[in-house]
Amino acid sequence: MSEGALAGLRVVVSAGPTYEDIDPVRFIGNRSSGKMGFAIAAAAAKRGADTVLVAGPVTLASPAGVDRRDVRSAAQMHAAVLAALPADVYIGAAAVADFTPATVAGGKIKKRPGGGGLVLDLVPTADILAEVASHPLRPRLVVGFAAETGDLEANALDKLRRKRLDMIAANRVGVAGGGFESDDNTLHVYDAAGVRVLGPAPKTRLADDLLDLVAARLS
Ligand code: C5P
Repeated sequence: MSEGALAGLRVVVSAGPTYEDIDPVRFIGNRSSGKMGFAIAAAAAKRGADTVLVAGPVTLASPAGVDRRDVRSAAQMHAAVLAALPADVYIGAAAVADFTPATVAGGKIKKRPGGGGLVLDLVPTADILAEVASHPLRPRLVVGFAAETGDLEANALDKLRRKRLDMIAANRVGVAGGGFESDDNTLHVYDAAGVRVLGPAPKTRLADDLLDLVAARLS
Protein backbone atom coordinates (compact mmCIF):
# COMPACT_ATOMS: atom_id res chain seq x y z
CA MET A 1 0.00 0.00 0.00
CA SER A 2 1.25 3.47 -0.75
CA GLU A 3 0.89 6.01 2.06
CA GLY A 4 -0.54 9.27 0.79
CA ALA A 5 -2.12 7.65 -2.28
CA LEU A 6 -5.48 9.15 -1.34
CA ALA A 7 -4.19 12.50 -0.03
CA GLY A 8 -6.52 15.38 -0.80
CA LEU A 9 -9.50 13.08 -1.34
CA ARG A 10 -12.55 12.70 0.84
CA VAL A 11 -13.71 9.15 1.50
CA VAL A 12 -16.99 8.31 3.24
CA VAL A 13 -17.41 4.79 4.61
CA SER A 14 -20.48 3.27 6.24
CA ALA A 15 -20.01 0.33 8.58
CA GLY A 16 -21.80 -1.98 10.96
CA PRO A 17 -25.42 -2.95 11.39
CA THR A 18 -28.41 -0.70 11.98
CA TYR A 19 -30.88 -1.23 14.79
CA GLU A 20 -34.54 -0.61 14.07
CA ASP A 21 -36.44 -0.04 17.29
CA ILE A 22 -39.67 -1.94 17.96
CA ASP A 23 -40.27 -0.59 21.47
CA PRO A 24 -38.03 0.93 24.18
CA VAL A 25 -36.28 -2.41 24.83
CA ARG A 26 -36.36 -4.31 21.52
CA PHE A 27 -35.00 -3.81 18.06
CA ILE A 28 -34.51 -5.58 14.75
CA GLY A 29 -30.80 -5.92 13.94
CA ASN A 30 -28.46 -8.01 11.89
CA ARG A 31 -25.22 -9.93 12.27
CA SER A 32 -22.70 -7.29 11.25
CA SER A 33 -19.60 -6.63 13.38
CA GLY A 34 -18.52 -3.53 11.46
CA LYS A 35 -14.97 -4.93 11.16
CA MET A 36 -14.79 -4.69 7.35
CA GLY A 37 -15.95 -1.07 7.21
CA PHE A 38 -13.73 -0.02 10.11
CA ALA A 39 -10.72 -1.65 8.42
CA ILE A 40 -11.53 0.21 5.18
CA ALA A 41 -11.83 3.54 7.00
CA ALA A 42 -8.53 2.90 8.81
CA ALA A 43 -6.80 2.07 5.52
CA ALA A 44 -8.25 5.15 3.79
CA ALA A 45 -7.06 7.46 6.59
CA LYS A 46 -3.61 5.82 6.50
CA ARG A 47 -3.41 6.68 2.82
CA GLY A 48 -4.04 10.32 3.61
CA ALA A 49 -7.76 10.56 2.78
CA ASP A 50 -10.04 12.90 4.70
CA THR A 51 -12.12 9.98 6.02
CA VAL A 52 -15.63 10.03 7.46
CA LEU A 53 -16.80 6.80 9.09
CA VAL A 54 -20.56 6.55 9.59
CA ALA A 55 -20.84 3.75 12.13
CA GLY A 56 -23.86 1.77 13.21
CA PRO A 57 -24.00 0.32 16.74
CA VAL A 58 -20.74 -1.60 17.15
CA THR A 59 -18.19 -2.08 19.92
CA LEU A 60 -15.10 -1.24 17.85
CA ALA A 61 -12.52 1.44 18.66
CA SER A 62 -12.25 4.38 16.26
CA PRO A 63 -9.43 4.04 13.73
CA ALA A 64 -6.74 6.73 13.94
CA GLY A 65 -7.39 9.90 12.00
CA VAL A 66 -11.01 9.11 11.13
CA ASP A 67 -14.00 11.44 11.62
CA ARG A 68 -16.46 8.95 13.19
CA ARG A 69 -20.18 9.67 13.24
CA ASP A 70 -22.20 7.17 15.30
CA VAL A 71 -25.76 6.32 14.28
CA ARG A 72 -28.29 3.68 15.32
CA SER A 73 -31.03 3.34 12.73
CA ALA A 74 -31.11 3.14 8.93
CA ALA A 75 -32.80 6.55 8.87
CA GLN A 76 -30.00 8.06 10.95
CA MET A 77 -27.35 6.40 8.77
CA HIS A 78 -29.10 7.75 5.67
CA ALA A 79 -29.05 11.31 7.05
CA ALA A 80 -25.43 11.06 8.24
CA VAL A 81 -24.15 9.71 4.90
CA LEU A 82 -25.94 12.39 2.87
CA ALA A 83 -24.66 15.07 5.27
CA ALA A 84 -21.09 13.84 4.65
CA LEU A 85 -21.32 14.60 0.90
CA PRO A 86 -19.72 15.91 -1.23
CA ALA A 87 -17.04 13.23 -1.32
CA ASP A 88 -14.73 11.65 -3.87
CA VAL A 89 -15.46 8.08 -2.79
CA TYR A 90 -18.36 6.38 -1.00
CA ILE A 91 -17.91 2.85 0.25
CA GLY A 92 -21.11 1.33 1.64
CA ALA A 93 -19.93 -1.50 3.87
CA ALA A 94 -22.80 -1.23 6.35
CA ALA A 95 -25.41 -3.94 6.65
CA VAL A 96 -28.36 -1.57 6.54
CA ALA A 97 -31.73 -2.96 7.63
CA ASP A 98 -34.04 -3.26 4.65
CA PHE A 99 -37.17 -2.87 6.76
CA THR A 100 -38.07 -0.88 9.86
CA PRO A 101 -41.17 -0.92 12.08
CA ALA A 102 -43.83 1.48 10.77
CA THR A 103 -44.24 2.81 14.32
CA VAL A 104 -42.17 2.47 17.49
CA ALA A 105 -44.29 1.45 20.49
CA GLY A 106 -44.03 4.01 23.31
CA GLY A 107 -43.97 1.32 26.01
CA LYS A 108 -42.70 -2.26 26.18
CA ILE A 109 -44.96 -4.53 24.17
CA LYS A 110 -46.48 -7.12 26.54
CA LYS A 111 -47.44 -10.68 25.79
CA ARG A 112 -51.01 -11.33 26.72
CA PRO A 113 -51.83 -14.46 28.76
CA GLY A 114 -53.28 -16.93 26.25
CA GLY A 115 -52.82 -14.33 23.53
CA GLY A 116 -51.65 -15.05 20.00
CA GLY A 117 -48.51 -13.95 18.20
CA LEU A 118 -47.30 -10.49 17.43
CA VAL A 119 -47.50 -9.10 13.91
CA LEU A 120 -45.09 -6.26 13.16
CA ASP A 121 -45.89 -3.79 10.42
CA LEU A 122 -42.58 -3.17 8.61
CA VAL A 123 -41.87 -0.55 5.97
CA PRO A 124 -38.87 -0.41 3.63
CA THR A 125 -35.89 1.81 4.50
CA ALA A 126 -34.21 4.10 1.97
CA ASP A 127 -31.45 2.42 -0.06
CA ILE A 128 -28.56 4.68 0.97
CA LEU A 129 -26.10 3.24 -1.53
CA ALA A 130 -28.43 3.57 -4.53
CA GLU A 131 -29.34 7.09 -3.47
CA VAL A 132 -25.70 8.17 -3.16
CA ALA A 133 -24.98 6.68 -6.61
CA SER A 134 -27.81 8.70 -8.17
CA HIS A 135 -27.27 11.86 -6.12
CA PRO A 136 -26.48 15.24 -7.74
CA LEU A 137 -23.35 15.21 -5.52
CA ARG A 138 -22.43 11.69 -6.65
CA PRO A 139 -18.90 10.74 -5.59
CA ARG A 140 -16.54 9.82 -8.43
CA LEU A 141 -16.44 6.28 -7.16
CA VAL A 142 -19.32 4.48 -5.45
CA VAL A 143 -18.53 1.06 -4.03
CA GLY A 144 -21.07 -1.35 -2.56
CA PHE A 145 -20.93 -4.60 -0.65
CA ALA A 146 -23.12 -7.63 -1.14
CA ALA A 147 -23.49 -10.38 1.43
CA GLU A 148 -25.01 -13.33 -0.37
CA THR A 149 -26.13 -16.82 0.49
CA GLY A 150 -27.03 -17.73 -3.10
CA ASP A 151 -25.54 -17.04 -6.54
CA LEU A 152 -22.73 -14.59 -5.72
CA GLU A 153 -21.98 -13.42 -9.24
CA ALA A 154 -25.55 -13.00 -10.49
CA ASN A 155 -26.64 -11.11 -7.37
CA ALA A 156 -23.52 -8.91 -7.30
CA LEU A 157 -23.80 -7.97 -10.97
CA ASP A 158 -27.51 -7.27 -10.56
CA LYS A 159 -26.75 -4.88 -7.67
CA LEU A 160 -23.86 -3.27 -9.57
CA ARG A 161 -26.19 -2.33 -12.43
CA ARG A 162 -29.41 -1.69 -10.55
CA LYS A 163 -27.80 0.58 -7.94
CA ARG A 164 -25.53 2.23 -10.55
CA LEU A 165 -22.31 1.37 -8.73
CA ASP A 166 -18.73 1.52 -9.97
CA MET A 167 -17.62 -1.50 -7.98
CA ILE A 168 -19.14 -4.12 -5.71
CA ALA A 169 -17.43 -6.43 -3.23
CA ALA A 170 -19.41 -9.61 -2.73
CA ASN A 171 -18.91 -12.22 -0.07
CA ARG A 172 -20.65 -15.39 0.96
CA VAL A 173 -22.33 -15.44 4.32
CA GLY A 174 -23.48 -18.45 6.26
CA VAL A 175 -20.36 -20.44 5.38
CA ALA A 176 -17.32 -21.33 7.48
CA GLY A 177 -14.27 -19.06 7.28
CA GLY A 178 -15.83 -15.80 6.33
CA GLY A 179 -18.63 -13.31 6.46
CA PHE A 180 -20.29 -11.12 9.01
CA GLU A 181 -18.71 -11.77 12.40
CA SER A 182 -15.38 -13.24 11.33
CA ASP A 183 -11.93 -11.59 11.22
CA ASP A 184 -11.28 -13.22 7.83
CA ASN A 185 -13.18 -13.08 4.58
CA THR A 186 -13.00 -13.60 0.82
CA LEU A 187 -14.17 -10.80 -1.45
CA HIS A 188 -15.20 -11.14 -5.08
CA VAL A 189 -14.85 -7.62 -6.46
CA TYR A 190 -16.83 -6.90 -9.63
CA ASP A 191 -16.57 -3.84 -11.85
CA ALA A 192 -16.84 -3.10 -15.55
CA ALA A 193 -13.44 -4.80 -16.06
CA GLY A 194 -14.53 -8.13 -14.60
CA VAL A 195 -13.89 -9.83 -11.28
CA ARG A 196 -10.97 -10.03 -8.88
CA VAL A 197 -10.86 -12.39 -5.93
CA LEU A 198 -9.28 -10.97 -2.76
CA GLY A 199 -8.36 -13.40 0.02
CA PRO A 200 -9.18 -15.45 1.94
CA ALA A 201 -7.40 -13.04 4.24
CA PRO A 202 -7.88 -10.95 7.39
CA LYS A 203 -10.29 -8.06 6.84
CA THR A 204 -7.44 -5.56 7.47
CA ARG A 205 -5.55 -7.05 4.51
CA LEU A 206 -8.70 -7.11 2.35
CA ALA A 207 -9.31 -3.44 3.16
CA ASP A 208 -5.82 -2.58 1.88
CA ASP A 209 -6.30 -4.65 -1.28
CA LEU A 210 -9.71 -3.08 -1.93
CA LEU A 211 -8.26 0.41 -1.52
CA ASP A 212 -5.54 -0.48 -4.02
CA LEU A 213 -8.34 -1.13 -6.53
CA VAL A 214 -10.08 2.11 -5.53
CA ALA A 215 -6.86 4.16 -5.85
CA ALA A 216 -6.15 2.59 -9.25
CA ARG A 217 -9.63 3.57 -10.46
CA LEU A 218 -9.11 7.16 -9.31
CA SER A 219 -5.68 7.65 -10.85
O1 C5P B 1 -29.36 -4.93 -1.73
P1 C5P B 1 -28.41 -5.22 -0.62
O2 C5P B 1 -28.89 -4.75 0.73
O3 C5P B 1 -27.92 -6.64 -0.57
O4 C5P B 1 -27.13 -4.35 -0.99
C1 C5P B 1 -26.03 -4.27 -0.14
C2 C5P B 1 -25.35 -2.96 -0.34
O5 C5P B 1 -26.31 -1.89 -0.33
C3 C5P B 1 -24.36 -2.63 0.77
O6 C5P B 1 -23.31 -1.86 0.21
C4 C5P B 1 -25.21 -1.80 1.74
O7 C5P B 1 -24.41 -0.93 2.52
C5 C5P B 1 -26.12 -1.05 0.80
N1 C5P B 1 -27.45 -0.73 1.34
C6 C5P B 1 -27.76 0.58 1.65
N2 C5P B 1 -29.01 0.89 2.13
C7 C5P B 1 -29.94 -0.07 2.30
C8 C5P B 1 -29.64 -1.41 1.99
C9 C5P B 1 -28.38 -1.70 1.52
O8 C5P B 1 -26.91 1.48 1.49
N3 C5P B 1 -31.14 0.27 2.78
